Amino acid sequence: MTQDELKTLVGQAALHYILPGMLVGVGTGSTVNKFIDALASVKDSIAGAVSSSNASTERLQALGIRVFEATEVEELAVYVDGADEIDHAGHMVKGGGAALTREKIVAAQSRQFICIADESKRVTVLGKFPLPVEVIPMAAKRIARQFAALGGLASLRLKDGAPLVTDNGQHILDVTGLQIQDPRAFELQVSQWPGVVTVGVFAFQKADVCLLGTEAGVKTLTF
Ligand code: 5RP
Repeated sequence: MTQDELKTLVGQAALHYILPGMLVGVGTGSTVNKFIDALASVKDSIAGAVSSSNASTERLQALGIRVFEATEVEELAVYVDGADEIDHAGHMVKGGGAALTREKIVAAQSRQFICIADESKRVTVLGKFPLPVEVIPMAAKRIARQFAALGGLASLRLKDGAPLVTDNGQHILDVTGLQIQDPRAFELQVSQWPGVVTVGVFAFQKADVCLLGTEAGVKTLTF
C-alpha cells in the first residue's frame, strides 16, 4: 500500500469514533484531509466541527460541514489529528503543517485525542523530524540561540522565499538535532521561553488513541 492509501485507511477508520449529534475537533494536514473527506459521508448526522486551521476550515465548509469557533464550544468529545512523530506513550511532534498552536488549543478542549498516522510516524524517541516551534518574530534569533545551547539547530521556515506566516501572524522555527527523552519536561521548559507561542511537542495534549496505518491494516494503539 502507498503512504496515501494508508492515510485514507486511517482517515476512514477514525469515523468509528464519531457519533450522531457530535461536534468534532478537526486537525490539519494530508492525513486529516482524508478524515475530512470521510466525515462528509456523515455530515447530516453530526452537529459540525471545530477546526484547527484556515485550510481545514475551508475544506470542511467546501464539503458542507458547519464550522464553529472554538470560543462557541466549551468541550469537545473527540479531536482527530495527524502527527509528524508519535512515541510509545502517545507523545507527539506536530506542526509540520504550521498549525500547531490552534491544534494544541482544540486538543486542550477535547476529552479524547485520536491520532491518525501511517506507520512511518512511529518513533522510539521524538526529535528526528525537525521540531516546529511557533515564535513571535522579534524573539526568533534569541530562541534559536537557546536551542543551540541544547544542541539543536533552528531554521526559520520559509514559503516562496519569505518567512512563512502562520494563521496567527507569527513565524515557525524548525529545529533539528534534538533527542527529546522526556517530552513533558521539554515541553514545559521550552514553553516558558519568552517569545515562544507554541512548541510542537504534544506531551500534555498527547494522543489517547492512535489509529496506525500498516501493511496489515489499521492497528489501534491506546495510551
Ligand atoms: C500540522 C500537523 C500535522 O498533523 C502533521 O504535520 C502531519 O501531517 P500529515 O498528515 O500531512 O503527514 O501537525 O500542523
